[in-house]
Amino acid sequence: MATQAANDRVVIFDTTLRDGEQSPGISLDQGEKVEIAEQLARLGVDVIEAGFPVASQGDFEAVQAIAAAVDGPTICGLSRTALADIDRCWEAIQAAPRTRIHTFIATSEIHMREKLRMTPEQVRTEAAAAVAHARQYTDDVEFSPEDASRSDFDFMCEVLQAAVDAGATTLNIPDTVGFAIPAEFGERIRRIRERVTGDYVISAHCHNDLGLAVANSLAAVEAGARQVECTVNGIGERAGNAAMEEVVMALQVRGDFYGGPWTAINTGKMARASPMVSSLTGYPVQYNKAVVGRNAFAHEAGIHQHGVLAKRETYEIMDPAAVGQGESQIVLGKHSGRHAFADTLRKMGYELHGDALNQAFTRFKELADRKVQLTEEDLEALVAEEVGDTVRYKYTLVSVSCHGGTNETPTTTVVLDQDGTKLEVTATGDGMVEAACTAIKQATGIDGRLTDYAVTSVTGGVDALADVVLRFEVDGHSMPGRGLSTDVVEASARAFLNAINRIVRVADHGGPADRSNRPGHIDTI
Ligand code: KIV
Ligand code: ZN
Repeated sequence: MATQAANDRVVIFDTTLRDGEQSPGISLDQGEKVEIAEQLARLGVDVIEAGFPVASQGDFEAVQAIAAAVDGPTICGLSRTALADIDRCWEAIQAAPRTRIHTFIATSEIHMREKLRMTPEQVRTEAAAAVAHARQYTDDVEFSPEDASRSDFDFMCEVLQAAVDAGATTLNIPDTVGFAIPAEFGERIRRIRERVTGDYVISAHCHNDLGLAVANSLAAVEAGARQVECTVNGIGERAGNAAMEEVVMALQVRGDFYGGPWTAINTGKMARASPMVSSLTGYPVQYNKAVVGRNAFAHEAGIHQHGVLAKRETYEIMDPAAVGQGESQIVLGKHSGRHAFADTLRKMGYELHGDALNQAFTRFKELADRKVQLTEEDLEALVAEEVGDTVRYKYTLVSVSCHGGTNETPTTTVVLDQDGTKLEVTATGDGMVEAACTAIKQATGIDGRLTDYAVTSVTGGVDALADVVLRFEVDGHSMPGRGLSTDVVEASARAFLNAINRIVRVADHGGPADRSNRPGHIDTI
């Protein structure tokens, strides 16, 4: 592994509890904030922006509680440039072993004119005064020219220089409204470093209004930024902030491209932090979210599944375990292939080969076409249906169609295949299931008595599979049958035909078939 130079360490400044909490609808109580801060400390973030103490009494007390309880990271409070705000900020964070005051004022023309109603000169003076005041409390002072990416470059640099001269140790460049484009933002960072002299760390704080927060943060790192401000899951004001997990993993996975920059984040804890923040804030993590989304390491397409099963790296650029996501997931759906199907069954304890595998796979594809994603329970039921079915049965169900209603007689048409010949029979009954069974009896010419019938739903949801188990008795011999489908009438017809097929086989062979030595059998390991 290449050595990690100290001056290439990218400080991870987490603002989940400040900018993240500014997401519409999020309001965390003190206990929740402390819980998240402790998880951020375990994650190894360098700085926790714990809140905006002057904003409310609740925010003040939460920052105070975090400063007292959380060990490891520097605890930072946000403050406007008003001196009283800075005093309040310090009061909130002072119990922490390492403290930072982050003070900000807008430098864009529109913000100064319309919001602050201040002249550029007033802004520059106030910025310097605020930094100097904060420095009386702590050696670690960060300054941000709000709306930096829309600020006049020369003026912004004057304010930044005044902040450094007054003692700022970090200059944070906020793309407050998510307006920047990566190449342009990187260039701005590069030019600030050239223009503003002194000993400071340059930082990026990017919002996601154009979906570019992570790209802009990375462009800033490329241009020399050594602090990135980000949040867990990318939550934050409006479209959010740069997602910490994405920034950190991009720098790690593409170390070949970035060269030196590295972070001290314990990436294995990411998958724990993400759902914690999601459940406490009530902000769901989108399924396809990079790194921590539930589909980030899930493969459905057959070609991809085949590749991943052969060598994970064929379709994965990160090891899921490295971000705490366990292992790659093979998701069975209609795009899945035979390899993944057989592999999943093997992991469930079923070894299928030859005809059994082919038959089960065909049934699986039929079901997957109708049901979005098959669960392990669905597969259990499907395999159970196939157990023993490795020898071709006499009849195969081609289709079932039903007709009925409140004032109509339930009618079912069943089409069977018998050695290439289609048998079609329509029958009526008290219900559609009974009509289907009658039609099958007429088509096969086998009569008997249905003694047991039970239908269960395999998994929940309106598209759950119906699992029908029944017994059919002919001349004193009772035979079980099982059928599976998203449609209960079809599942019943399959179960009924399954029992009849078995009866026919027993009759043809003069006794129960021994299938255990046939090549296509299913083993339960
Ligand atoms: O987006 C922003 O400009 C901010 C500042 C307070 C840094 O959050
Ligand atoms: Zn922000």
